[in-house]
Amino acid sequence: MNPTLNVSRGAKYSRMLGVGGYRPRRVVDNAEIITYIDSSDEWIRTRSGITERRWASDDETVSMMSQAAARKAMERAGVEPGQIDTVIVSTVTHLHQTPAIATTIASELGAKNAAAFDISAACAGFCYGTAMADSFIRTGASKYVLVIGVERLSDLTDKHDRSTAFIFADGAGAAVIGPSDTPAIGPVVWGSDGDQADLIVQNEPWTTAMDGSAHDDGEPHWPSLRMNGNPVFKWASYTMAKTAAEAMDAAGVRPEDLEVFVPHQANMRITDAMFKALKLPAGVVVARDIARTGNTSAASIPLAIEALLESGEAHSGQTALIIGFGAGLVYAGQVILLP
Ligand code: COA
Repeated sequence: MNPTLNVSRGAKYSRMLGVGGYRPRRVVDNAEIITYIDSSDEWIRTRSGITERRWASDDETVSMMSQAAARKAMERAGVEPGQIDTVIVSTVTHLHQTPAIATTIASELGAKNAAAFDISAACAGFCYGTAMADSFIRTGASKYVLVIGVERLSDLTDKHDRSTAFIFADGAGAAVIGPSDTPAIGPVVWGSDGDQADLIVQNEPWTTAMDGSAHDDGEPHWPSLRMNGNPVFKWASYTMAKTAAEAMDAAGVRPEDLEVFVPHQANMRITDAMFKALKLPAGVVVARDIARTGNTSAASIPLAIEALLESGEAHSGQTALIIGFGAGLVYAGQVILLP
């Protein structure tokens, strides 16, 4: 007869205990962008809401930015590196297929022997990571989880491509998630739509870049991101508003209960459209970090949360809806209490 297995049991609830961010030093304004593409400051501001973004310098690597963000998150959470037992890094711009960047980040931070792995869930990555952390803590697989969203999208952006050059940017955001006596992370509503995988893609595989061949103009192959912006815009504005409403329903939170709204920072007009579709009250604080940060994919939500907390626009303990969506297509949203 088979023995009855012990199963792990964890905390009743989990909570985001601290967030931290890292913004690269170099500020790239729209005046610089329009030296690369045929556009204007006015078009970029009115169509996307972006006035400037950050592009990483050589020393601001995926690992360096992640560690800087993570140290701030751990300090604010009051959690020592040695207490972190799980590190999840969401990124699509760690340019080595293996090993995962999470293992060296864990090691260099001092989270020795932590379970560590990368996930590829594009702009939904921080919310995917938060959902996993919540589950791991409640099953007992983990106690303190470090979730990092980090991108150097400038490495994969063709700065002469009119549809992406002004949008994508670099940065890192991190959160420490740990046990809680009271509910502070609601159920995740997540999913994917692979039928629309071709809307945001890396235009060629690394194998093409490595074969030494060149484009007609003599430039060596280097993959870059391509986006069919308009269908993505419509999908994000309408379908994602429904997902956000489902996440609020799942948590038992009505629009009038919500205090803060932090959607993935993809486009200011998408944020406005979602706000309207969700019928959120005018007093809800809305993250508009895209104006100075651009679209940093997996990093955008923790960076935006940090900005709201640092500016005093939002406060610890407030009820916030977070939702990420992007290449895949993938999406995930949940209601949380702010750290
Ligand atoms: N500068 C100036 N004009 C531009 C331009 C640029 N960089 N890019 C496109 N245009 C022009 C087009 O040629 C078109 O001109 P036309 O009307 O004369 O034909 C016009 O602007 C509208 O183009 P369109 O692609 O329909 O613009 P849009 O309103 O959809 O805005 C985006 C473009 C990219 C800002 C928008 O589609 C978007 O934000 N999409 C979602 C992006 C996103 O969220 N991506 C990541 C998901 S994680």
